Amino acid sequence: MKKVIKNGTIVTATDTFHADVLIENGVISMIADNLDEQGAEVVDATGCYLFPGGVDPHTHFEMPFGGTVTKDDFETGTIAAAFGGTTTVIDFCLTDKGAPLKNAIDTWHAKSKEKSVIDYGFHLMIGEINDDVLNELPVVIDEEGITSFKVFMAYKNVLQADDETLFETLLAAKDLGALVMVHAENGDVIEYLTKQALAQGNTDPIYHALTRPAEIEGEATERAATFTGLAKSQLYVVHVSCADAARKIAEARNKGIEVWGETCPQYLVLDQSYLEKPDFEGAKYVWSPPLREKWNQDVLWNALKTGQLQTVGSDQCSFDFKGQKELGRGDFSKIPNGGPIVEDRVSILFSEGVLKGRISLNQFVDVTSTRAAKLFGLYPKKGTIAVGADADLVIFDPTVERTISAESHHMAVDYSAFEGMKVTGEPVSVLSRGEFVIRDKTFVGKPGAGQYLKRAKYGETKANLTKESLTL
Ligand code: URP
Ligand code: ZN
Ligand code: ZN
Repeated sequence: MKKVIKNGTIVTATDTFHADVLIENGVISMIADNLDEQGAEVVDATGCYLFPGGVDPHTHFEMPFGGTVTKDDFETGTIAAAFGGTTTVIDFCLTDKGAPLKNAIDTWHAKSKEKSVIDYGFHLMIGEINDDVLNELPVVIDEEGITSFKVFMAYKNVLQADDETLFETLLAAKDLGALVMVHAENGDVIEYLTKQALAQGNTDPIYHALTRPAEIEGEATERAATFTGLAKSQLYVVHVSCADAARKIAEARNKGIEVWGETCPQYLVLDQSYLEKPDFEGAKYVWSPPLREKWNQDVLWNALKTGQLQTVGSDQCSFDFKGQKELGRGDFSKIPNGGPIVEDRVSILFSEGVLKGRISLNQFVDVTSTRAAKLFGLYPKKGTIAVGADADLVIFDPTVERTISAESHHMAVDYSAFEGMKVTGEPVSVLSRGEFVIRDKTFVGKPGAGQYLKRAKYGETKANLTKESLTL
């Protein structure tokens, strides 16, 4: 059935205006004043913003990690995402060395197909480069539409790849039209510092942060950017946590190297002191890279404002405190890294970013939706409100005041990293391809309704991107 959304204020990455939106067959078919309501269901958005659905380029659903598996799967995770105003996620598909890439992709399809309530895509981890991998990558791109590869520079002996692998991945990505993503921390130095801390009896959660200093995130970021320049390729640095790394990205961009940077809500509003909470509660705040000293937050907000960082992903990677985070009692290196964020990403950016004057309303849409859609080959189907785009829409009440809590969130975990934080603004209703997933704050979607997204090659949107990129 046709729908008309009336009386809302449409906000895109570039414009803010009042108009009605007509939705037909899951797509936006008209945007104009006083649209004819005949034969259409009328949805009243008075007093609300109409945002394009959030695009979260960084989730880990049902992922084996840290001796356990992330608690939110594609069902609970995407329901929570939808409650939070996100209508597209791109999840990281982990590969095994020596095994065909296809096996990993099949595994990820099996995890997601019947479960996801919103549309989704995959990034593919590259842990090694050899002839088999090089032969398979064109198939991955052309048949699966997976156009971004992830290389871990940390997690030694688990996920970490060496520099040769990173460089070869950058070269391959350049030829194939893919974007290389890096987890930029120096895993070798972390390994040394971790062993040293444990040998000295320093086992509490705070040592997770102290053994991963900001300098080695900056060093790895610079190294990856240098390789990118040499390879004339393209790079996306995930979860930038600190000034050191943000500066290295800015320096590389100033040299004309095509480097993009993502930060996450946790780095914008939480800080290293959370790891010192008593009774092992600091484990709830163990991320890699770790939370940093508070002054870094201003640098990150400013980098978003000036365009030196371009996206905000959640890095959703949730574990219960009880039974999962607790695996690291007595040894911080065994605390599973990551936290539950997917539901809070958009609201935190709106409340802490827009309402506190750190970013504009249009920048908020850009960093939470549009830019990720462009970078990852989904634009303009996703990430904007325009005729022909998917009707992935968020009706957002900017006045509601609420407190984030595990009691009320929809993620499957037993704590919230933002417990007690007051935010203003909330998604009221959320549509995916024209169908309500959340209606008046109630879930009305269906597991399995989310569609797998084959994404365009990086090169295909490149012209679109570079116009804005280095001049922001
Ligand atoms: O601590 C984190 N970030 N956990 C998720 C895995 C990763 O490194 O992105
Ligand atoms: Zn990472
Ligand atoms: Zn991650």
